This record gives sequence, C-alpha cells and structure tokens, in this order.
Amino acid sequence: MQANSLKNKIIVVTGGAGAIGQCFVRGIVERGGIAIVADINIDAAKLLAQDCAGHAEAADLDITSKDSVVTIIADLIQRHGRIDALVNNAYPRNKNYGKKLEDVAYADFCENVNMHLGGYFLVAQQFCLAFKQQGYGNIINMSSIYGSMAPRFEVYDGTPMTMPVEYAAIKAAIEHLTRYFAQYFKGTGIRVNCLSPGGILAGQSADFLMAYNKHCASKGMLDANDLLGALMFLLSDESSLMSGQNLLIDDGFSL
Ligand SMILES: NC(=O)c1ccc[n+]([C@@H]2O[C@H](COP(=O)([O-])OP(=O)(O)OC[C@H]3O[C@@H](n4cnc5c(N)ncnc54)[C@H](O)[C@@H]3O)[C@@H](O)[C@H]2O)c1
Repeated sequence: MQANSLKNKIIVVTGGAGAIGQCFVRGIVERGGIAIVADINIDAAKLLAQDCAGHAEAADLDITSKDSVVTIIADLIQRHGRIDALVNNAYPRNKNYGKKLEDVAYADFCENVNMHLGGYFLVAQQFCLAFKQQGYGNIINMSSIYGSMAPRFEVYDGTPMTMPVEYAAIKAAIEHLTRYFAQYFKGTGIRVNCLSPGGILAGQSADFLMAYNKHCASKGMLDANDLLGALMFLLSDESSLMSGQNLLIDDGFSL
C-alpha cells in the first residue's frame, strides 16, 4: 500500500485512543490521512493527537449518545467539508462485563448489548445520513472472530478470562448489521464492511498463549499492527467495489 494511499482523507476512528484504535490512527496518519481520534477518554485522545503532529484531531465522543454523535458529525462537516470514512471501533462495557455465562445478570447482558451493539448502530446510522447527503462514504465495523465462530473455551482453562456471551451476541449482530447497511445503502455511494481480528497480545500468560497459539498457522496471537494491511485496504479506493463483506485476520485460529 502506497505511503499516500489515504492522502487527505478525513477518517473517524471511534475508540481511537484504545489499544487497537491508537494503532489504526497512527497507520492512517502514516498513509497521509487525517485521523479523528473520537473517544470518550478525551485526555488520551488529545495526547495521541498531539503525538501525530497536526495529522490527527481529538474529538470527545460517546457512541451511546445521539447528541454526541450528531455534534461530532456537524463539527467535522463544518470544518473539513466532508467525512471520508468511519471506523466503528469503540469498546464500551460495564463494570460487570466478562463473567462466565452462569454469572451474567440479565440487566448486565442488556446493558452491554445496548452500549456496544446499540452504539455501533447509532454511529453507523448517523454517519450514513451524512454520507448520503455528500454522496459517498465508507464504514468499517470492528467485529471479531467470535462473531462468526463458536468459542474455544478450553483455551481459557486455568485463567480468569472467558469469551463473554454478550460479546458473541454483539459481534455476530455487528456482522449482520454490516450486511444490512450495505444492502440498504446500495447505490448511494456508501459502502460498509467488517473487520474481524483474532486475539490481540496484551500481556496474557504463557500458558494461555500456548493453548491459543497451537490453533494458529505461524505467529499466533496478533499485534494490532497485524491488522493494518486489511484496514488500509478497506479504507482505500482499492476496495471500492467491496461492500457487505467480513475480513477475518487471525493467523488461521478460526479454521
Ligand atoms: N483486543 C482484542 O483482542 C480484540 C480482538 C478482536 C476484536 N476487537 C475489537 O476491536 C475494537 C477495539 O478494541 P480494543 O482492544 O482496542 O479496546 P480498548 O478497550 O483498548 O479500547 C476501546 C476504546 O473505546 C473507548 N470507548 C469506550 N466506550 C466508549 C464510548 N461509549 N464512546 C466512545 N469511546 C468509547 C475507550 O475509551 C477506549 O479508548 C473493539 O470493537 C473490540 O471488540 C478487539
């Protein structure tokens, strides 16, 4: 992918201050784009934007608030005249998130689905309204391998981690929302695709890594950087005839 493949494209990354989002923001800037670090953690977003020397901007965004989403869109259109793409990447979860199935309270299940799936819907809906007016737009929704494969629970044995049931429901729904939006907006210049990573390295134990990596082809758990090739392809005009699709990047884990 060429250094200037995203030249002057205005690209909003929700959750842009998080682990994967930061890497996406830097990758966009390296390829000539202007990254909007849209995050509820505005302090972290500002620090990252400062580090990108004028090629990134911080924006305060809560994906679960319609006012917040509408405000960021209006502000960007007013200042830049357009928005080229959205990466729907934030990861909201409540304090009880991540328990095993027997321990998940109904209220927590609903709250996590509302924030994450509902937030992705709200952001995609409002950006598509703006994209329709400008005649084009590109959305990449972040899913996960666990949106399309059943969990391998045994890799979590002996660790405090699990693959949360809410996450499976949310990510499967995000993949289907991708197809729904792609079909709904067909013919308007808007395209919508999905990116589904495998697990990302974040200080997991050696035992967990061994159990996980034995299902992979070579490297095993990924660095966020390993997603950049697929993200840049989806953001660039090289994928201009692709919509409603899901790209899995997982070193073969889901096979
Ligand atoms: N980390 C992994 O192993 C992995 C694997 C596959 C898919 N993913 C997906 O990648 C995406 C990013 O994950 P991550 O690991 O970088 O998460 P992260 O927790 O490191 O970062 C998430 C970011 O979202 C922000 N955020 C939370 N609630 C928000 C809200 N209401 N509005 C706006 N911003 C909000 C946080 O402040 C944070 O900066 C998520 O969709 C996640 O499901 C992650």
